[in-house]
Amino acid sequence: MSASATLDALRASADAAMHRAYAPYSQFRVGAALQGADGTVYSGCNVENSSYPVGSCAERNALGAAIAAGRHEFTALVIVTEADAPTPPCGMCRQALVEFAPHLTIASYGALGVHAEWNLGDLLPAPFTGQSLRHA
Ligand code: THU
Repeated sequence: MSASATLDALRASADAAMHRAYAPYSQFRVGAALQGADGTVYSGCNVENSSYPVGSCAERNALGAAIAAGRHEFTALVIVTEADAPTPPCGMCRQALVEFAPHLTIASYGALGVHAEWNLGDLLPAPFTGQSLRHA
């Protein structure tokens, strides 16, 4: 499968998840599709709550689905929202993703079809990792 075919498949998966998002408070629906190293795709959407901080992001929900399925290595993440411009993952999701894939390729699509691409290493330089916890 070519890189663009992979991206298209991930985008379709993220888009389907976005349409299942539960975002009655922000009205900002987000879908994410995370590809495991074996090619399997795990999707997630944002799930909000009347107690606002309890809500969770699409990216971390996709990651949780992948971890629950036994995947710990990832090659790409695609995000889809209804915003005009493509949106990057929030800081909390960057930190969650860096635990497993410090150099993850991340693509994001906005409603106007424009897409942006980043490497997680550029979005979260100098991350706090398991190594950071070491002490004598
Ligand atoms: N949201 C995500 O799902 N992913 C992000 O990276 C940024 C924000 C969600 C959280 C909340 O449900 C809504 O978008 C508005 O912030």
